[in-house]
Amino acid sequence: MRLAVIAGDGIGPEVVAEGLKVLRSVAPDLETTDYDLGATRWQRTGELLPDSVLDELRGHDAILLGAIGDPGVPPGILERGLLLRLRFELDHHVNLRPAKLYDGVRSPLADPGSIDMLCVREGTEGPYVGNGGVLRRDTPHEIATEVSINTAFGVERVVRYAFERAQARPRRHLTLIHKTNVLTHAGSLWSRTVEEVGAEFPDVTVAYQHVDAASMFFITDPGRYDVIVTDNLFGDIVTDVAAAVTGGIGLAASGNLDASGTNPSMFEPVHGSAPDIAGQGIADPTATVLSVGLLLDHLGHADLARRVNAAVAFDLSTREPQAQVRTAEVGDRLAALAGG
Ligand code: IPM
Ligand code: MN
Repeated sequence: MRLAVIAGDGIGPEVVAEGLKVLRSVAPDLETTDYDLGATRWQRTGELLPDSVLDELRGHDAILLGAIGDPGVPPGILERGLLLRLRFELDHHVNLRPAKLYDGVRSPLADPGSIDMLCVREGTEGPYVGNGGVLRRDTPHEIATEVSINTAFGVERVVRYAFERAQARPRRHLTLIHKTNVLTHAGSLWSRTVEEVGAEFPDVTVAYQHVDAASMFFITDPGRYDVIVTDNLFGDIVTDVAAAVTGGIGLAASGNLDASGTNPSMFEPVHGSAPDIAGQGIADPTATVLSVGLLLDHLGHADLARRVNAAVAFDLSTREPQAQVRTAEVGDRLAALAGG
């Protein structure tokens, strides 16, 4: 397995080190290449993602990313120039974000019940594409647009992926989340696509919710969800809610997938670089380790992915409540458990 590693900024290198420990414990023949990308490189050289680096990344089986971001860099530079550029150039059209409440993890909900959902967020379209502009800047009549792009091709492939995932799960249920009552153009495309693709998956039941109502039900009744599918921006928002109700962003894993397999997929914790706790060895590497589980699963090593996930489940069920996380200790424990 040839893995490109972008540790990035803040706590990124700390959590990635532990993710790699766990990955090596189950896949000892791992070959890694480190890529120095992120705030520090940009500040030093002005470079974000040179084309030569992008070409090299394409030669790997997968990418593991820690976190990108620094309070000293103006908003948008690293996001657009590096993180989103990676997702777009590598055609990561499925942004996969499981949200499961593990035994032993405290949810902020009083009575969370069992939560086990798989969010399938579209990753290469929507308002993220940068299709917009500004007129009459810095005047009282400034006009800013940010046009959401939804293509039949792009919607179909992510909806199909979501149906396939739903069909392989015990509950076989898929919820489309959108805002079809207001965003009628894109909403109609998403609804029609779900209906059409759904005809090929008669054993998957389908529900629809507006994103505002869904945000409420994620809190009042999260157990109702199995697989959800939604666009890039709605998916960004609701997956933070899903992370919050399942124990927080320290546990939230993600995979940016090119489901066609043409380009390497990229696995990253949903959290950011957390500069406030960087360098202290107290960041929870669990989200990165669960992202390693998604990576293994994606590369066809379902058995190894199960070992990593089982290690995390066991570790979470036996952690002292309120105990301070020590990054390296969590990584050591998980590597020992997964490596057997
Ligand atoms: C995420 C992040 C990114 C996103 C930002 C940093 C561009 O919030 O991965 O969820 O909006 O996708
Ligand atoms: Mn986000």
